Formats: sequence, structure tokens, C-alpha cells
Amino acid sequence: MSVRKDIIRITIFPNKPFQKYTETILNQIETFERKNFPKNEAMAIKKEVSKRTNTLLVAYYEQDILKEQNTQKLKSTKIILVGYIIYSNISSTQMPVTRILKLCVHHSFRGIGLGEKLLRSVLERMDVPKRSNADLHVDVERTVAINLYKKVGFNIIKRIVDYYEVGRDAWLMEFIN
Ligand SMILES: CC(C)(COP(=O)(O)OP(=O)(O)OC[C@H]1O[C@@H](n2cnc3c(N)ncnc32)[C@H](O)[C@@H]1OP(=O)(O)O)[C@@H](O)C(=O)NCCC(=O)NCCS
Repeated sequence: MSVRKDIIRITIFPNKPFQKYTETILNQIETFERKNFPKNEAMAIKKEVSKRTNTLLVAYYEQDILKEQNTQKLKSTKIILVGYIIYSNISSTQMPVTRILKLCVHHSFRGIGLGEKLLRSVLERMDVPKRSNADLHVDVERTVAINLYKKVGFNIIKRIVDYYEVGRDAWLMEFIN
């Protein structure tokens, strides 16, 4: 990775300042989904983001591009996506539940704390565990993700057989204070 970690930012998306980049970023996420998840798990991201109960946070950096056009130098900015997290806010008569639907970091940017930062950002925003519980499902084979979830405070509650498809089980994990 040749990009400095300190230039990576996390923001809610879509948002006003990045409006013109909305399509590009959502397309980048779709590419991440295709590359990192089996077909039946790849999210229809535009549909998910449009749901009132869902929120997307993206980790990105800005790259200045210099183009030469008719001997004129033109500067523009490109937004490079390096990770994202999507969660749903499920209301309940008691405590609402923040359900982590998807977390992914670009393979070149893994192991530098971004996954953890994205996850902690959601817990902080939703004020877990004070004002919301949190849970998630994760493929029992995804050891790296399971380690991350445990590190941040999630515990395994139960195994759900054939959750993703026949022969692919999930752990249900809940945030425990
Ligand atoms: C899971 C994923 C999001 C982790 O992101 P990341 O930015 O690389 O993780 P971090 O650098 O924040 O690491 C946080 C913790 O995760 C665990 N972890 C990270 N990389 C690991 C590895 N290679 N082996 C074992 N545990 C690992 C560790 O507990 C680590 O804490 P530590 O650094 O104190 O040991 C990333 O690997 C990914 O996108 N994987 C593919 C998609 C996926 O599985 N998503 C989750 C299911 S939806």
C-alpha cells in the first residue's frame, strides 16, 4: 500500500459534498461486492442504500488528478474507496438493534485497522450499547472477520445452519458490553 493511512477518511454516504461522486462510489462498492462475496451474498447496493433504515459509511481518500487539455493543465479530484460498512437500524419496543449487514476493506488496505475503525464508527454513531443493541451474522469460515468482531466486543450466540446456502452456516453474534 503506497497511500498514507492518515489521509483515509470515514464518512456517511451518500452525502451533499460528494454528490457528484455518488454513482462512481456506488459502482466501486458493487465491484467490491462482486470480488469479495459469493454471488448470493453480493448486495444490490443501490437498493440497500435507498432503504430508510439502512446507513452506509465509506472509508476513502482523495486523489488529485492533473490532466493536460489543449496545453492547459486541469486539476480534478478522484475519490478512491478503500472500505465500507452498511448497517440497519431495527426498531423495537424495548431497545433498537443496530444490525451490521456488510463490512469490507480493499485487500491492499487490510491489516491496518480500517475494518475496526469502520465498525467502531457505527457503534459510536448508534451509541451501542447505551441506546442500541448490536448484532450481525457472519459465515463461520470467515475467521478474520470473526476475530475482528470479537475484538470489538461481539460474542457468538448461536450457529445458524444453512444460513447462506445449504452447507454454509453463520454465527449469530451480539455486542456484549
Ligand atoms: C474482515 C475485514 C473487514 C477486516 O478488515 P481489516 O481492516 O483488515 O481489519 P483490521 O486491520 O481493522 O483488524 C482488526 C482485527 O481483525 C483481526 N484480523 C485482521 N486481520 C487478520 C488476519 N489476517 N488474521 C487474523 N485476524 C485478523 C484481528 O483481531 C485484528 O486486530 P489486531 O490487529 O489487534 O490483531 C477484511 O478482512 C475484509 O474485508 N474481508 C473480506 C470481507 C469480509 O469477510 N467481511 C466480513 C463479513 S461481511
